[in-house]
Amino acid sequence: MACFFRRSIAVKLSRILQQPEDAFISALSAVPASKKQQNADFRLPINTLFKDGIVPSKGDLQSQAEALLNELKPDSVVEDISAGRGVINFRVHRKILVQKMLETLGKDDERFGLDSELLNRLEKGRTLVEYSSPNIAKRFHAGHLRSTIIGNFIANLKQCLGNEVIRVNYLGDWGMQFGILGAGFEKYGSQEKLKENPLQHLFDVYVQVNREAEINEGLWHAAREFFRQLEHHEDKAMSLWQQFREISVKEYEQVYKRLGVRFDIYSGESFHEGQTQEVVQRLQNLGLLKTTEKGTGVVDLSPTGDMSTYSTVLRSDGTSLYITRDIAAAIDRKEKHTFHEMIYVTDKSQQNHFGQLFQILLAMGHSWAQRCRHVSFGLVQGMKTRRGEVIFLEDILDEARARMLHNMSQSITTKDMENPEDTAEKVGISALIIQDFKGPLESDYKFEWDRMLQAKGDTGVFLQYTHARLCSLIEMQGNGQELELDPSLLLEPSSICILQHLLRYDEVLYHSAQDLQPKHLVNFLLKLCHLVASALRELPVKGSPHNVAQARLRLFSRTRSVLANGMRILGITPVYKM
Ligand code: ARG
Repeated sequence: MACFFRRSIAVKLSRILQQPEDAFISALSAVPASKKQQNADFRLPINTLFKDGIVPSKGDLQSQAEALLNELKPDSVVEDISAGRGVINFRVHRKILVQKMLETLGKDDERFGLDSELLNRLEKGRTLVEYSSPNIAKRFHAGHLRSTIIGNFIANLKQCLGNEVIRVNYLGDWGMQFGILGAGFEKYGSQEKLKENPLQHLFDVYVQVNREAEINEGLWHAAREFFRQLEHHEDKAMSLWQQFREISVKEYEQVYKRLGVRFDIYSGESFHEGQTQEVVQRLQNLGLLKTTEKGTGVVDLSPTGDMSTYSTVLRSDGTSLYITRDIAAAIDRKEKHTFHEMIYVTDKSQQNHFGQLFQILLAMGHSWAQRCRHVSFGLVQGMKTRRGEVIFLEDILDEARARMLHNMSQSITTKDMENPEDTAEKVGISALIIQDFKGPLESDYKFEWDRMLQAKGDTGVFLQYTHARLCSLIEMQGNGQELELDPSLLLEPSSICILQHLLRYDEVLYHSAQDLQPKHLVNFLLKLCHLVASALRELPVKGSPHNVAQARLRLFSRTRSVLANGMRILGITPVYKM
């Protein structure tokens, strides 16, 4: 596979340039597949050699490329070497490409691409990924949905690259909102409704109290009083709060399950509330805490110490803030889980918050804060269902399923199946995910049901549809394992294209691991599906001689498993029939 070829080319280069082979492994990249048969498979951009100091730079790029080219000779693996602009191109023997690729693909379907030398260079360790993190009793908005699916992708990716991953949900489960909710529940709450539909009921109570409080001063008093009781851990208040939290988590878990998302830990702001005094004390001891005229406690973050930027960590009444709890939480996680890196996933409005958090941690002497990272994403406009505004995650999943079910019932290609709702749900969710992952995470985008659910465009539906088509072909005709593979049966352009494309898989994962952007993998899989669509047209199985049919089936069945692996990393559950 990619590895074998990269290694052979690296060996060649190392002999000529008198440098260790490894130096060339990451400098080589697989060329995007193209129908032009003459296309090379790998290229070496000459400037990366200079940049990485692998060879001393002498003369211009072109003449260096040509000088190197003169010394490179084809061999049993590489059949052609040519120079392009500032690059050297390598084309491997077609038969060897087919042979090696199918051999590796057949070895361990699940691990294809993952044990590559390129990926082995990535640092590995325990990775804590914090995502989703909704606020109890409040709306689950588009930002929480994005955080959930992006965080899940990052956790999946890190895990399959060999890191030990801890998945954390940091609930908004503390603060004045619970004073409001507690006071409100005593007035409008119902234990029955709470058991029946907890998220809805808590939300309703919360909205109602807020509305009522506008005209009823007394409610604010009651809310403050309830929160005071919570802060003092008074039994009655605490047990109600506990109940709200437990019931909400149970409910969330159900919905996350539909999304294929899980967490190892449901932590939350409440867990760290009790540690905030210690944090403040520590800041004080380190001389980092300043008291303002208003009586608030702040940390000066300006480069020159003129308070031009600062972060407030203590209110004048001595209570903690969001950031204070985050400082405590980070330190606590480091102590408990000794992570190698920690990744937070939220929308970009919190960029400043995390910037300040990391800066404060560093100032406190926690050098590991350098390995904390905030992955931020843009806003989603117009996420609505037929019933209106989205309030719960469930609303969006229900709508995706209903719309997909409708589309399936309209399509003549839809197969008979046992549980169409389940398929519609999985396909609907893939549509949500692909719409969200296609562009750079930083960009805002417009939520469009019709567009994301199209069967033909670059959508999650198209990925699922291609996967299901391959499954039904394999189910009817077999997976091509019957005969010893004869590579000369797979030399058609559409077969070579797929294999060339698969050569890029480890590189794509490598890029994703570096910038944590799902778009590389999404675009890779979409292109794979387009290549599969033409191969299915051009390389019929039915009606072909037995050995040809078997060889094609083998290619299709291997391709299917790479597609499924990639989909799973994105957080999509592949369907076998649709
Ligand atoms: N609950 C917060 C919100 O909805 C997100 C929490 C993000 N994580 C954190 N460690 N601050 O905005």
